[in-house]
Amino acid sequence: MANSAKELIEEHAVIMKVIAALRKQADALSYGKRVPGTQLKETLDLLREFADECHHVKEEKVLFPALAGIPQQKKAVDAFLEEHARGREHLGVMTDTLYGTCAGNSVTIDRFAENADDYCALLTKHIQKENAIFAKVGEMFPDKENERMERAYAKVEKEELGEGKHEKFVQRAEKLAASVEEP
Ligand SMILES: [Fe+2]
Ligand SMILES: [Fe+2]
Repeated sequence: MANSAKELIEEHAVIMKVIAALRKQADALSYGKRVPGTQLKETLDLLREFADECHHVKEEKVLFPALAGIPQQKKAVDAFLEEHARGREHLGVMTDTLYGTCAGNSVTIDRFAENADDYCALLTKHIQKENAIFAKVGEMFPDKENERMERAYAKVEKEELGEGKHEKFVQRAEKLAASVEEP
């Protein structure tokens, strides 16, 4: 059986493209440059709808409960969950400060940029740590369990995103990455 976590590792690559875009946007804002509001909104929408509401839910509902049953992995799973919670907090602040940031309010821009920086650093490390563990999921679990997890991911995706949406998200992330200018 192939590694059922392969699709999560592939999603990490997509999320990293959005994170790279957010980092450039945050740098541009810190340098006093304007970033188009529609572009900032698209970044936050992708992070919320794809990274948080789909990818993180697959991990939280399917893979993490399975991993937590392995005593050596319990600590890593606890850390991952705590990092998801912190990521949601940063995303919440960015969402709350989006309007003021687009309006050019300097205090709000600083707050947005600071949270964007923290979010990028947090998620980059988080994904590196997850990839190291996820790469071994094929060997950690019997074939039957890997197959069950694959089916469960498909179910989450259907419920959270809707059928056929995954490819659209990948395209949107690529379009965003291509459109964000160097700060
Ligand atoms: Fe995660
Ligand atoms: Fe992840």
